[in-house]
Amino acid sequence: MAQQCSHSLELGSSKPAISVVGLGKLGSPLAACLAAKGHQVIGVDINESYVRSINKGCAPVREPGLDSLMYANRHRIRGTLDFREAIQGSTVSFVVVPTPSDERGSFSLKYVLPAVEAIGYALKEKDGFHLVVTTSTVMPGATQSEILPTLEKCSGKKCGKDFGLCYSPEFIALGSVIDNLLNPDFVLIGESDKRSGDILAQVYEWLCANKTPIARMNFVNAELTKLSVNTYVTTKIAYANMLAEVCEQIPGADVDVVTDALGLDSRIGRKYLKGATAYGGPCFPRDNHAFSWLARSLEVEPSIAEATEAINARQAVRIKDHLMAHLPHGSHIGILGLAYKPGTHIVEESASVALAKELVSCGCLVSAYDPKIQDLNEASNVLGQGITLAGSIKELIENAAGIVIALPCPEFKQIISQDFMVATPPRKIVIDCWRMLDRSRLEAVCEYIALGSGPLVAKDKLLVRESR
Ligand SMILES: NC(=O)c1ccc[n+]([C@@H]2O[C@H](COP(=O)([O-])OP(=O)(O)OC[C@H]3O[C@@H](n4cnc5c(N)ncnc54)[C@H](O)[C@@H]3O)[C@@H](O)[C@H]2O)c1
Repeated sequence: MAQQCSHSLELGSSKPAISVVGLGKLGSPLAACLAAKGHQVIGVDINESYVRSINKGCAPVREPGLDSLMYANRHRIRGTLDFREAIQGSTVSFVVVPTPSDERGSFSLKYVLPAVEAIGYALKEKDGFHLVVTTSTVMPGATQSEILPTLEKCSGKKCGKDFGLCYSPEFIALGSVIDNLLNPDFVLIGESDKRSGDILAQVYEWLCANKTPIARMNFVNAELTKLSVNTYVTTKIAYANMLAEVCEQIPGADVDVVTDALGLDSRIGRKYLKGATAYGGPCFPRDNHAFSWLARSLEVEPSIAEATEAINARQAVRIKDHLMAHLPHGSHIGILGLAYKPGTHIVEESASVALAKELVSCGCLVSAYDPKIQDLNEASNVLGQGITLAGSIKELIENAAGIVIALPCPEFKQIISQDFMVATPPRKIVIDCWRMLDRSRLEAVCEYIALGSGPLVAKDKLLVRESR
């Protein structure tokens, strides 16, 4: 049941020292936020350069606001490679190591279990109660059947008596991790026992700026909730994209008008209800996939999750088809926005990368520009041959016959219709996936396609397409 944070008598008003195991994209912002709220924080990682970095007061990963938050709180954060030192020096440990998808789509514990083993061995030598919190996303059942027994085996101690265990994943998006950590919609806690849940709830009360509701439950329900939140959100995005495809076929239809109204219904809500490009990033695609795998392994048909994945996968093809309807194969296409969302340089599973690969596969030359990606090396592991980075928006537009505005970056709003003007025909093709530009101005100078909008019709005409 969702509860408000309650003060735990156990911690009183003294803020415990906290260790954060795994100082990557989520762990280092978590460490910095906890330090900013007054905790002494010990960061542990197997990556020496990350440990060195936080010992210098520098962020080991790129995330807006992290460098300054780390530096401002450097006197409360230190890094170590030594689990023993971290566990001895703290009362609560967050485990934030990777849980990559395995070949079936399930999440692997190949990083979590060694980290938990090391914590267990360190606990063996420690007097007093210690709380271990797994923040890494794990499959339903993993905490009870693998993490808890590993901790008990390595420590020789009893969970719920000598140490506590919670599963508490975060709901963050890269680019806004600090704000998401400090202002979550809700906090999710799966707890081994009430005492452990109370301690963690108290830590969150200190961490979160707002009066955050806390949903406390057993491990498996928390594991299912984490997976379900992301799966549900991807379903919403896929629904909006499907609606956008329908709108494109109906004169006068506009997906934004429909979704804006739809979102007013409190049963639906506005967030993530925007017909545009596919969802991507390190979490959404793999969480949806993991949910499908889980359901299938339980002999439940994951129809919604699979339909969501199928709709998502066809978005790149849909945009490519729009371009190829106007341009010869082999054309030069420019993509504005390469990361999986604005405000981050992460290109993992990004809609733009999928589109770029789709275009290259039909012989197009692709260049891309992203305000957060200045170095092709950053994206080279996911980008293939035939894709180059443009130095500026202007350069990209000048050289391309077709331009796709694939991300709603504020920088792209500043593009004006003149930028697309050409001295001699043919006119440039512009696909505005997020409908950021002024349609009537753009239509005067280029072939402008507002994704999710049907052809314009005169006001007195019937707004339905005639059957062919
Ligand atoms: N990044 C996101 O957007 C996001 C969002 C929600 C949840 N998560 C979850 O958080 C977890 C961590 O993700 P991330 O993006 O921060 O990963 P990351 O790869 O950026 O960082 C993980 C860190 O853990 C360290 N590590 C690996 N094994 C270790 C060990 N045995 N001991 C100590 N450190 C170890 C790595 O060196 C690395 O620095 C994953 O389970 C992920 O699913 C991530």
